[in-house]
Order: sequence, then structure tokens, then C-alpha cells
Amino acid sequence: MDEAAVHSAAMRVEPAVPGDAPAILALHRRVLAEGEWFITQPDEFPESVDAKVAVIRDAARSDNGVFLVARHQHALVGWAQVVGGGRRRTHHVGRLEMMVDARVRGVGIGSALLGAIVQWAERSPAVYKLSLNAFAHNTRALALYQKFGFEEEGRRKREYRFSDGTWRDDVLMCRWVK
Ligand SMILES: CC(C)(COP(=O)(O)OP(=O)(O)OC[C@H]1O[C@@H](n2cnc3c(N)ncnc32)[C@H](O)[C@@H]1OP(=O)(O)O)[C@@H](O)C(=O)NCCC(=O)NCCS
Repeated sequence: MDEAAVHSAAMRVEPAVPGDAPAILALHRRVLAEGEWFITQPDEFPESVDAKVAVIRDAARSDNGVFLVARHQHALVGWAQVVGGGRRRTHHVGRLEMMVDARVRGVGIGSALLGAIVQWAERSPAVYKLSLNAFAHNTRALALYQKFGFEEEGRRKREYRFSDGTWRDDVLMCRWVK
């Protein structure tokens, strides 16, 4: 599969089901192995298929979380997850994490996922605010979030240090959905 092969008509975004866990986990590991976009490094990511199944089931039961996948034909090409706050005073906040297969980035899959997440949050009686963190150098992700109305809330300077000794700033973004 490559970018040219992705047609929006053949792509759909829908809630994850437990049977998606192996493909979600494989994509998660591949993206972490890129080493560029997340704090977690592959050897710091012990998650199992069973744990992913539990996450998918928890999201389906929760009123302030959701787990969506993007499929192209039969392939799982991206996912987006909102984890709702676990305390009464944070219940209104959903934290977003998402990723798209590197082979098909830049063709609208991230936009389809994020559009569906925002729509879900706007309809959810529990969620008022979507929030996220991104590396300041992740220009594609920042552009995507801005396109869907997310605003920068703050920036933590040199919050992360890579093994080559370089530093990364952390950008905090949010979008109000009520
Ligand atoms: C960030 C990510 C989810 C975006 O998904 P995507 O499918 O590539 O996004 P889209 O194709 O819908 O593009 C969304 C917007 O990003 C911007 N964009 C696309 N390609 C870009 C590029 N090469 N450089 C900079 N911005 C780009 C554009 O603003 C685009 O909107 P537009 O096409 O309407 O102009 C995806 O690139 C990804 O998984 N990256 C690695 C993991 C990651 O960074 N996750 C987020 C961590 S905070």
C-alpha cells in the first residue's frame, strides 16, 4: 500500500473492536520505532494484545473516552484514542493520542480521524475539552491540530532530552467542544 493507493471513498473511520488489537499494537510499535514523535521508546512499551483489548473495551464502556480506527480496504491504517479524566474534577477532559501508518501519511487519514474525534466529543455530554501534547518539531501534527481548531495552551521548554543530547520542547494544545 502506498499514498497513491489510498482513495478516500475506500477509507472509513469507526470504533475499534477487540479484534483490531493486534493491528493497532503493530502500528503503535512501528510508529514508536520511528523514534521521532513520542516520548516512549519501543523498549519502554511493554503493552500486550490483551492489554490493548482491555483498552478498547474500556473506551467502548466509558462516557468520556473513545477509540477509533481508520481502515482502508481491509488494512488498519490509523487510530485515534481519547482517554477521559479518571477523577470527578477531570472527567470533562479527554486526552488525545493518534497515529497514522507512515506509508499513507499526508493523504487525509489523520484529518478523517480527528474530524470524527471532534464530532464525537461535541456530541458527548461528558467531554468539554480535548487536550494533547506534541513535540514542537512535529509540524505535521501541529498543522493537523490547528486545522481542527486546537490552540496552543503553553510550551514546556526542553522538556525532553533525546539520546543524542538534543532537546525537545513540549507543546500543550487544547480544543473546547462545548
Ligand atoms: C500527525 C499525523 C497523525 C497526521 O496524519 P496524516 O494522515 O498525515 O494527516 P493528513 O493527511 O490528514 O494531513 C493533515 C494536515 O497536516 C498538514 N500536513 C500534511 N502533510 C504535511 C507535511 N508533509 N508537512 C507539514 N504538514 C503537513 C496539513 O495541514 C494537512 O492538512 P491539509 O491537507 O488540509 O492541508 C500523522 O502524520 C502521524 O501519524 N504522524 C506520526 C505520529 C504522530 O506524530 N502522532 C501525533 C503525536 S502528537
